[in-house]
Formats: sequence, structure tokens, C-alpha cells
Amino acid sequence: MSIQLDTSGLDSFKTEIAEASSLEELYNVKVKYLGKKGLISGLNKQLGKLPPEERKDAGQRIGALRAEFEEHHDARESTLKQEEKSRKLESEFIDITMPGVPFKGGGIHPVTRVYDEIVDIFTSMGFEVALGPEVESDFYNFEALNIPKEHPARDMQDTFYIGEEVLMRTHTSPVQVRTMLKEKPPVKIIAPGKVYRCDSDVTHTPMFHQVEGLLVDDKTTFGDLKGTLTVFIKRMFGDDVPVRFRPSFFPFTEPSAEVDMGCVICGGKGCRVCSHTGWLEILGSGMVDPEVYKHVGYDPEGCRGYAFGMGIERIAMLKYGIDDLRLFFENNLKFLKQF
Ligand code: PHE
Repeated sequence: MSIQLDTSGLDSFKTEIAEASSLEELYNVKVKYLGKKGLISGLNKQLGKLPPEERKDAGQRIGALRAEFEEHHDARESTLKQEEKSRKLESEFIDITMPGVPFKGGGIHPVTRVYDEIVDIFTSMGFEVALGPEVESDFYNFEALNIPKEHPARDMQDTFYIGEEVLMRTHTSPVQVRTMLKEKPPVKIIAPGKVYRCDSDVTHTPMFHQVEGLLVDDKTTFGDLKGTLTVFIKRMFGDDVPVRFRPSFFPFTEPSAEVDMGCVICGGKGCRVCSHTGWLEILGSGMVDPEVYKHVGYDPEGCRGYAFGMGIERIAMLKYGIDDLRLFFENNLKFLKQF
């Protein structure tokens, strides 16, 4: 009589596999039977004790047992994996129909808005945009514009000096000079940009923006200047706004005029904003002074042209009814969001 292969205690693996409720539990069952010290692996140790003629047969039975275990195990494993996946999908479900978190969009700064609008109006009339440096030399900012040293007109604009001859430009007019030195007439440009003056109160900031205009050919008249600026103001503020030209003085234009428009606040009746005159000044302008032509090598006899300059913040204030210039530079979101 031979010793039998002892497989007692092995019949329960099917139940244990079926009852494993997680991959971890299933793994423990696998270790219990197929691990190094597992029950099925342990059977191999019995082989040596069997009579040689029975070993082959017993070996095959161990193999079959192992295969049977694996079959049950793998089936259960794929079921458990499937269940786990479904559970994960359910717990990680995202309801894409729920309302999202709204994000706050940015806006265009009112100065930029008006800057762009002014540039659009003039480029549509054939003006080209020209730019110049903000750090300027005395020659371009003053000398070539007929404002010699010691001239009282220098006091009109409190200047930030960087050196003896170097300064922060006080207006965009030096771009006129730079353009005429570079190009022969006809020229027709606008020059927007930052300018600097040593000044700070409710109506003045040390930095602000201007737009310069310059048109030079051999036949332009004061009538052309009036027409162009009137069209500009009406496009900016509406067709009904009255416009008037008032004699003035600038060293680089002759004759010169300041341009007023009817007060947008009171409609011309007179209020605090227009100092009870019904008019608001918004532009400086005039026919280019022959002295300027001489500085840039243009023929004063053959050239006719006009120039104008305006403050962008001032126009933005009038357009949007803003009464404190400093609001433009404080970056207060409550203010900026209104545009
Ligand atoms: N540059 C002048 C200023 O800053 C404005 C101006 C420009 C006037 C061109 C006449 C012609 O006040």
C-alpha cells in the first residue's frame, strides 16, 4: 500500500476565492495556496516521500490542482477589477452640467480706449502713426520748436531734466521735428505717446498722454486745419457738439488757435466744469511757424502746414464724465470695471 498525496484542507479554495471581496483579500488567498509556503506549493514536498512509480501521476495532479486554482482565481480577479473600476467611476463622477465658477474678465483702460479711438479717427483720414523717444534732447523738445533758452515759453511746461541737454519730453511736439528731419514734404502724421511735466494736482499728473498731429505740404490752409479738427471732435463727441477756434499763442505755430467744444457736462449752459463759460478747451493748434521749417531744413517759402496737440486723459475725462485725473493712474478695480 502506498502513501497517498494528502490534499486535505484544499477543497475550500473555491469558496475562499468566491468570498474574497477585494483584490487584497484575493491576493491573500493566492498567497495561502500558491505562495512559497502555500498549501498547493507544499504538496511538492510530499512528492519525495511517494514511491517513484506514483510520483509522475501525483505531480500531474498537483499541476491540475494549481491550474484549477488559477482558473478560479483569475475569473474572480477580473470580476473584482471590474467592480473596482465601476466604483471608481461612480465616486469620481463629475457633473459637467453644474454651473461653473465664473472668471472675471479684464477690460481696456479708458486712456487706452480713447488713445486707440483718436488714432483710428486720424488714420482713417490718412494720417500715419509716428513715434518718438520719451527721453528727449533739449534741441527736439524746445530749440527746434522755436523755444530758445531763456525763452519765457519754457515756463509753460515744468520740465524734468535728466542732464544739461537731456530731459523727459514735455509734449509730443518733438516728434514733429524728428519726422521733418527724416522725411521730405508732404508729411501727414499723428504721434501719440507719454509726456512728462513736473506737476501734480487734481487736473495734472507728472506723466500723461498726448497726441500730436502734423501735416505739411505746399498748399494746406488754416481752413484745412479747422475742417480736420472739427471732423475729429464731432466723431469723438457726436455731431451736435459745437466747436470754436480761439486765437492763442504757441512758439512753434503762427497763427495759433486753441480749440474749444461745447461743455459736455452742462450742454453749454455754464457749470463748474466749464467755469460757467459753456466751453471746454481741448486742443492746441496752429499753422507751422516758418522758424520751425528753418530748423529742419524745409523751405519756409514753399511749405504750408498745420500742427495740433491734445491731452488724451483730458479727452477721456470729458468723454466719460470723470472729474479727477488721478483716477486714471490709481488702478482701482472699482473704477476700471466701469469701462
Ligand atoms: N505742444 C503743445 C502743448 O503741449 C500743443 C500744441 C501742439 C500746440 C501742436 C500747437 C501745435 O501744449
